[in-house]
This record gives sequence, C-alpha cells and structure tokens, in this order.
Amino acid sequence: MSDAELPRLTVIGTGYLGATHAICMASLGYDVVGLDVDPGKIRKLQSGEVPFFEPGLPELLAKTLESGRLRFTTSYAEAAEHGDVHFICVGTPQQPGLDACDLSYVDAAVRGLAQHLTRRCLVVGKSTVPVGTAARLSGLLAELAPAGAEVELAWNPEFLREGFAVDDTLRPDRLVFGVTTEWARERLAAAFAPILELGTPTVVTDLPTAELVKVAANSFLATKISYINAMAEICEATGADVRDLAQALAYDDRIGGRFLQPGLGFGGGCLPKDIRAFAYRAEEIGVGQAVSFLREVDAINRRRRSRTIDLVRELLGGQLNGQRVACLGAAFKPNSDDIRDAPALDVARTMHGLGANVRVYDPAALDNARRTYPELRYGTSAMDVARDADVVVLLTEWAEFREIQPEALSEVVAHRRIVDGRHALDRDAWRAAGWEYRALGRP
Ligand code: UDX
Repeated sequence: MSDAELPRLTVIGTGYLGATHAICMASLGYDVVGLDVDPGKIRKLQSGEVPFFEPGLPELLAKTLESGRLRFTTSYAEAAEHGDVHFICVGTPQQPGLDACDLSYVDAAVRGLAQHLTRRCLVVGKSTVPVGTAARLSGLLAELAPAGAEVELAWNPEFLREGFAVDDTLRPDRLVFGVTTEWARERLAAAFAPILELGTPTVVTDLPTAELVKVAANSFLATKISYINAMAEICEATGADVRDLAQALAYDDRIGGRFLQPGLGFGGGCLPKDIRAFAYRAEEIGVGQAVSFLREVDAINRRRRSRTIDLVRELLGGQLNGQRVACLGAAFKPNSDDIRDAPALDVARTMHGLGANVRVYDPAALDNARRTYPELRYGTSAMDVARDADVVVLLTEWAEFREIQPEALSEVVAHRRIVDGRHALDRDAWRAAGWEYRALGRP
C-alpha cells in the first residue's frame, strides 16, 4: 500500500494505551494525531516526553515527532478533520465503591468527537468495556454525528502488556476486528496493513465477541495466577513446595508455565478491575453464575496480600508494631512505574497501619508512590531502606532486587530475615548466608 492510500489516524486518549498506539502507528508510516483533554499531557508528548515509564517508547516518540507524522492536540474539531479512522483509547477504571467499570471517559470521547464528524469515517473502540457498550455507542454516533450513518463503529481490543507495550503493539499475537460491515473490515485492514503483512493471525467477528475477547483473555490469565496461588495455600498447610509443583505442571505443554508464577498475586490497572467488571456485567445481564468463579479468583488474589503480612509477622515473632520493615518494590510489576492496585504498596500500607516502621524503595515507581501515599517513608536504594531493618520484604521482582547478594545485605540490616513475596530469590543461597528466608507456599 502506498503512503497516499494509508488512512489518516487519530488516537483519542493518550494514556498507556493511547500514547503507545499513536507513537507506534506513526512509526509504521501513518499520519497520526493524538488527542487528550489534559493539556499537560499533550504539552509533554508534543515536547518529546512520555508521561509514564515504558521501555523504548521515548526513543520512538522522538523519532516519530521528528518525522512530522505525529502531532498532538486537545481539539476534537482538529482530530475529526484529520482522521479517516479514529481510535478510542481512553481509560475505563473501576467505579469507586462498585465493581462496575466507569464508562464516563468513553462516553465523553465519543460525544466530543461525534459532533465534529461531517464525513464518512470509522470510529474504533480499543478501551476495555462491558459487553454491549459498542452497540450503545453505535446508536450515540448515529444520533450525534452530522454525517449520521456515514460514521461506523468497530471494536478492536488491545492486549498490550506494560513493559512490553511497543513490541506488543508492533508485533501482536493476534488482531481482533469486531465489525458490522465489509467496509469497516477493509478500513481496519488498511489501518493495520504493515502488521497484517507480518502474517499476524486475525479474527474478524461481531461487536459483542470483540468486546468479550479482551475480558475473557484477562479473566483467563487472572484465573491461572490465582490457581497456582490457591495451590500455594494448600502447600502451606501440607508442607509441600509450590515452586516445585508449578515447575512440574509447567512441563505439561497443555498447561504451560506462563502466568503460573506463585507469589503475591496480580495487580495493575487491568486484571483486577477487568475481572470485577466482567462479573458485574454478567450479573447485570442475568448470567452471573457463569463467571461467579471470578469472585473466588479475586478473593484468592487478595488473600495473598494478607498472607504475606502474616509471614512477616511470623518472622518477627508475632508483632509488627514498632518493627523496622524494608519493602523492596512498589510498582505492580517490574519494568513499570504503575502503582494502580499494586500488591506491593497494599502490603506496605497495611503494615504501616499496623504500626510497623515501613520504608519503601522502587527503581521507577517512587514518584507515583510518594504522590499517592505520602504517609509512607521512602528511601533511595535497596541498601538504604534495608539499613537497620528488622526484616526485608521483596514485593516486586525487579532484576536489581533479584541480583542482591545476601552477604552484601547482611552488612546493613539489624536482623537477617527476608520474606520473598515473589519467589524471586535463591532460597538455599540466602539460608546458607545465615538468613531466615520465608516465601508463600514453600517450607
Ligand atoms: C495485562 C494483560 O497481560 C494484557 O494482555 C492486557 O492488555 C492488560 O493487562 P499488565 O497489566 O501490563 O497486562 O500486566 P501483566 O504482565 O499481565 O501482569 C499482571 C499482574 O499479574 C502483575 O501484578 C504480575 O506481577 C502478576 N503476575 C503475572 C503474577 O503474579 N504471576 C504470573 O505468573 C504472572
């Protein structure tokens, strides 16, 4: 396809998903306008700064800005004028006090854009939404867009992982096109031409199926993690070793070892809220029983956090109050500065609430943690927070924590006690260096 035939793209919402999508599509040769209602974010992106931590993205932003194929705006009129295909990439967070997801940003984006759509174009939803949302938004577009039925809606869920966002976007495992017409399918194929040329498997389907693929995938991943963590609970009661158990399961190709890492469990901006919103939506439409197991998946996951604190308390002889606790990690996973529903910070805050003298260090998430939880104390390195600690707790498995030598840490702590919340350390090496080592589901 020649450049002239490439559709012009807009990306509405420049968070993790939208900024990555806009930058990657521009790097593939598309002319892209990114829109956000937050002028601060737009200023940063326009000046070449990625507002969050994502390996490889700042370099790609610099390159695409220089190419002239990427610019940013806060104006819906400008976005509507530019785009042949408009991607909706705004957030769908959990509603406060409710398991349902908050669709107000999606609705605002569609409304904001629709009123300026005066010619034939395709609006593509990428945000994770409850099944049935696309059908409702189609109605909204037909009602609000001056171009009326000329404006079509498609759904194209996104599966990118934080920390691997660039690669997941440029070389996805699969593409899902939820469409209602052949024209929409052709437009999507044109918008993903370079990725389709790689031979990327593509599933063309209807709107509700496309919406469901995303929540079904995340529910499966969450279930797999909670499954091995449920086994860890059984191991704890029986003296068995969940690491060996997981390894033995993983050799079975049908099961596989990915997302079978036991430990403190899942967090982040997607898995926890997606399984809750899915269960909520299923109840709304009268099929709650079909996914009621997701409530159990969530409960198992939450128990990992309290059980980790139990381990710390046990190591300290039954009392957290007044004890110095070094927490290694704040982000919900390594290679990210994201602290949304981060198990690490949940554990740190609870121990702080129980009277422990908690200090936290994270290689990337300290600014976010400080801003959100100013009541906690923070340090400048693992060694810094471990100084004079009564116990060290590893909560996020950053490479720099995995590489810590027990002998080096021995020199700064008050007591050689460690809880490995992520099964990231070599138990035997730590014990050989004189440490009391504890991990969930291991003797
Ligand atoms: C997830 C999905 O993987 C991605 O496809 C979707 O688009 C968005 O949600 P992400 O939130 O970036 O991506 O994180 P992911 O790498 O999936 O990890 C989620 C959580 O599960 C992390 O807290 C991680 O520590 C935890 N996890 C992961 C485990 O506890 N054990 C595992 O074996 C794997």
